[in-house]
Amino acid sequence: EIPFAESYKIKMVETIRRSTREEREQWLKDANYNLFNLKSDQVFIDLLTDSGTGAMSDKQWSAMMLGDESYAGARSYYNMKEAMKNILGFDHFLPTHQGRAAENVLFSVLVKDGDVVPGNSHFDTTKGHIEFRKAKAVDCTIDEAFDTEIDHPFKGNLDLIKLESVLSTYPKEQIPMIIVTVTCNTSGGQPVSMANIKAVKELADKYEVPVCFDSARFAENAYFIKTREEGYADKTIKEIVLEMYSYADMATMSSKKDAIVNMGGFIGMKSEELWKKASTYNIMFEGYVTYGGMSGRDMNALAQGLDEGTEFDYLETRIKQVEYLGGKLEEYGIPFQKPIGGHAIFVDAKKILAHIPKEEYQAQTLGCELYLEAGIRGVEIGTILADRDPETRENRYPDLELLRLAIPRRTYTNNHMDVIAAALKNVYDRRHEIKHGFKIVDEAPIMRHFTVQLEKI
Ligand code: F0G
Repeated sequence: EIPFAESYKIKMVETIRRSTREEREQWLKDANYNLFNLKSDQVFIDLLTDSGTGAMSDKQWSAMMLGDESYAGARSYYNMKEAMKNILGFDHFLPTHQGRAAENVLFSVLVKDGDVVPGNSHFDTTKGHIEFRKAKAVDCTIDEAFDTEIDHPFKGNLDLIKLESVLSTYPKEQIPMIIVTVTCNTSGGQPVSMANIKAVKELADKYEVPVCFDSARFAENAYFIKTREEGYADKTIKEIVLEMYSYADMATMSSKKDAIVNMGGFIGMKSEELWKKASTYNIMFEGYVTYGGMSGRDMNALAQGLDEGTEFDYLETRIKQVEYLGGKLEEYGIPFQKPIGGHAIFVDAKKILAHIPKEEYQAQTLGCELYLEAGIRGVEIGTILADRDPETRENRYPDLELLRLAIPRRTYTNNHMDVIAAALKNVYDRRHEIKHGFKIVDEAPIMRHFTVQLEKI
């Protein structure tokens, strides 16, 4: 049998540098044990995020050269508008500089004090924008998502009973939208099935509440529908995406993921009235409605990226690389969120460092150890990220303490995956020698993980 290989070849490369353990010890200390504070030159393999870190194609780079930088009515805007209609089916859209900007603009129209926003494990900026407006994000993800050992094909699904209980408890005036995150980043890059999307939309219609897709990794979600859900094997990714979005009233998008650009975002809307209202906020916060914080060249690259990002061959290459890394970790007996998600491996730090109390930040501790081992930078998806409860100011301890290893698109080779797996195995094998975690010495009142300063215990 002929083995699988990438559906692209490499035209441009960027040098990265290995470092010594002594260097890394000093750098990490100087960074107050917060991996966000490291300089990228101090990192050998950067798995902090798959956001804006992918490699653009030759076609995207050539689209950049054709960018139209007109303030109003640029050709690049119309290219993006066409992609928006053809790929996602939205008649109306607003460009924004990234995903959280789309949230800011859209939520400025729709979310107010006292509102309730049900969804599947809202991403931290999404939750931040909800809580900033004194509204509440209610997590309605299925329980299976919170056990890393359960092998459920669609762990991003919403629990319809939990959702209906929210919808029937509050009046519709207090529920501005249901947010469906495709794929669900927080629960491990886990997809939502078409059947679940459809059922959510039916409930939403029953209670007259609109549905908003947090779309960052919508194409990866479509790949999993195609490969895991009955009835979709013979459909193209583009057909599946159009069906998914037929159940959405609106969408926010971080184009830095599945549109494979370094910067950009948008809001897609079916309602012209909503578009009009959101336009005012877009002009205030982002820029005029035909560029909204993006250069013409970037809108061009985004339009091209949406097309490439919804091609099966590209997605297969991408997701098989993540599976390759997961397969190695499995072989080494390292626990992580199963099944393997779309954009990342979520290592179960709670299981690996069970002997360290959760008050000492297990996932953060594992992340620091992996960096020290081989210069690999992951990100904590655990107690530090979960922030404090806005009312009690107590630490929120999430069910999962994960170290996310996010794989940038078209960036690293499987040799890099081998290095990551071997380094993590070394840490895993000496896990009992890791006796203590960290304590926080300084933190911001909201989204503390970016700037938190830690001290070794
Ligand atoms: N929604 C989801 C599901 C995300 O994963 C992100 C970003 C956003 C919204 C916000 O988009 O960064 O463009 O403002 N996730 C990145 C990550 C940061 O590393 O997972 P943004």
